[in-house]
Amino acid sequence: MKASKTTRNKRQPQSAASAGAGKVAIVIMAAGKGTRLKSKHPKVLHSIAGKTLLEYVIVAAKAIVPAADVHVIIGHEAERVRAQTQHTGVGFVMQPEQRGTGHAIMAAKGPLAGYDHVLVLSGDVPLIQPETIARLRDFHLQQRAAMTILTAVVAEPFGYGRVLRKSGAGNDVAAIVEQKSLRGSQEKVREINTGIYGFQVKPLLENLDKLTTENAHHEYYLTDIASLLVRARKKVVAQLAVNAEETLGVNTRAELAQLDSALRMRKAAELMQAGVTLFQPQTSIIDSSAEISPDTTIDPCVQILGNTRIGSDCHIHSYSVIRDCEIGDNVVVRPGCILSESRIAAGAVLGPYAHVRPGSDIGEGAHVGNFVETKKARLGKGSKANHLTYLGDALIGENVNVGAGTITCNYDGIHKHTTVIEDGAFIGSDSTLVAPVRVGRGAYVGASSCITKDVPAEALAIARGQQVTKEGWVRKRREARTTAGKTR
Ligand code: UD1
Ligand code: CA
Repeated sequence: MKASKTTRNKRQPQSAASAGAGKVAIVIMAAGKGTRLKSKHPKVLHSIAGKTLLEYVIVAAKAIVPAADVHVIIGHEAERVRAQTQHTGVGFVMQPEQRGTGHAIMAAKGPLAGYDHVLVLSGDVPLIQPETIARLRDFHLQQRAAMTILTAVVAEPFGYGRVLRKSGAGNDVAAIVEQKSLRGSQEKVREINTGIYGFQVKPLLENLDKLTTENAHHEYYLTDIASLLVRARKKVVAQLAVNAEETLGVNTRAELAQLDSALRMRKAAELMQAGVTLFQPQTSIIDSSAEISPDTTIDPCVQILGNTRIGSDCHIHSYSVIRDCEIGDNVVVRPGCILSESRIAAGAVLGPYAHVRPGSDIGEGAHVGNFVETKKARLGKGSKANHLTYLGDALIGENVNVGAGTITCNYDGIHKHTTVIEDGAFIGSDSTLVAPVRVGRGAYVGASSCITKDVPAEALAIARGQQVTKEGWVRKRREARTTAGKTR
C-alpha cells in the first residue's frame, strides 16, 4: 500500500504548492477525556489493531513534517499519554483544563507563533493517511485560504459537525454547525467536518480569542472559527476527502470496534496483495505491526499480534495466537498453539496445542508437539519433544529426543535452575529431570526415571523402582475370596 510505504521511507510528500509556502506545523489534539468511551483510560491511548489511536495519527503526521514540527496537545492523563508517545520524537503542549477543541488550540499559541501554516489533526481520527493530509495541505496553500476544512459525505452523519457551504457551487464554506445546534433542514446535511483542518496561523491566532462558550456544551469550539473568519472576510473552504472511511472518529466503544475491524481488513488486504494467503481473513486478527512473507498461509481464526515476523512458506493453522515472535521459513504451526516472545527457526513444527512461552528458542526443524509447554527453553536443530512435556529453563542440544511426559523440574520453590541436555541424548518417556542437572552427549535416560544427578555422555541412567512380578497372584486372590464366601 502506498501510504505505509511513504511512512516507512519517512519521505515527506512535497508538491509544487507546498514548496516555498512557509513553515508548516502539525498540531494533534489529544487532550480530551473521551467521556463517551466510559473508560478510566484516556481515549487516545485506546488501541486498535495493536497500536494506540494517537500513534497512528503521529505516524501519519511524521510522514508530512519532521517530528520536531509535530505538536501534540495533551491534558487528561497527560503524563501517561506523554510517556507512551515520547519515543516518537514529537513535541507536547499542555492543556491543563479541557474546555473544548478551540481551547486546545489556544494552548498551542506559543509553539504556533513560529509557523505560517498549521494542519490540525484529531488524536481520535486514526485512519487518516499521509496522502490525504498532503492533499489537504496542497489544496489549502493553493486556495490561499485562511481555513481549509477536510470534509466527508457519510450515510450516517449523526454526532458530527455539519459543514454548511455558501450558496452556489464552489468550495466556500459559511459555517460549521455542531450536532446539538443543528436546526431544521441542517439535520439532513450529510457533509461532515472530519476535525482535520489547514489554517493560516496569523488569522487563526487573531480570531481564537473571539471564541465563546455560548453553546450546548459550554465549550470553546474550534469549529466556530469558520464563521468568525467568514465574518472577518477571510476565505474558508472545504475539501472533500476521497475516502470517507479514513476520517471516521472514535467516540464510542462501538466505533472503536468498527475502526479496529477496518484497520485489520486493510492489513489483510495489504498482506494478500503482497502474496500471503489468508483464508476467511475477516475471522483473523492481525496487528498492523506484524510482518508476514509471501507464500505463507494463514487459516481462519488466527491471531498474529505485536511485533511478530513470520517467514515465507509457513502454514499457521486455526486457533493459534502468536505474539511478538520471530518465525523462520517453512514453519508449521498446527491448530491451537499459543506462542509468545520466542524465536522459531526454519522448518520447525509446532502443535497441535503447544504452548511456547517467552524466551523459547526452537531450532531448525525441531518439533514441539501436542500439550508441550516450553519456557526459556532452547531446543537445538532437529530435536523433538512431541507429547505432553514441560521444558522450562532448559538448554537442549541438537537431535535430542525428549520422550512423552518428560518434565524439567526447574523450580525449587525459591530459585529457578537449568537443565542441560546435550546433543543426541535420549530421554525416555515420563522422566523427571530435577534441575540443576546435565544429561551428557548421546546419553540415555530410561523411561520413568527421576534424574537428580548428572548423566555422563554415552551412559544409561535408570532411576525408578524395580518391577516386582508375582506369578499367579490374581488366581490365588480369587480363590481366597471364594473360600471366604463359602464359610460365611
Ligand atoms: C469534533 C468537531 C466536530 C467534528 C468531529 C470529527 C468540535 C467542536 N467538533 O467533535 O465538528 O465532526 O470532531 O471527529 O471541534 N480535545 C482536546 N481538548 C479539548 C477537547 C478535545 O484536545 O478540550 C481533543 C480530543 O482529545 C479529540 C479531539 O480534540 O482527540 C476532538 O474532540 P472530541 O470531543 O472528540 O470532538 P467531537 O465531539 O468528536
Ligand atoms: Ca471525536
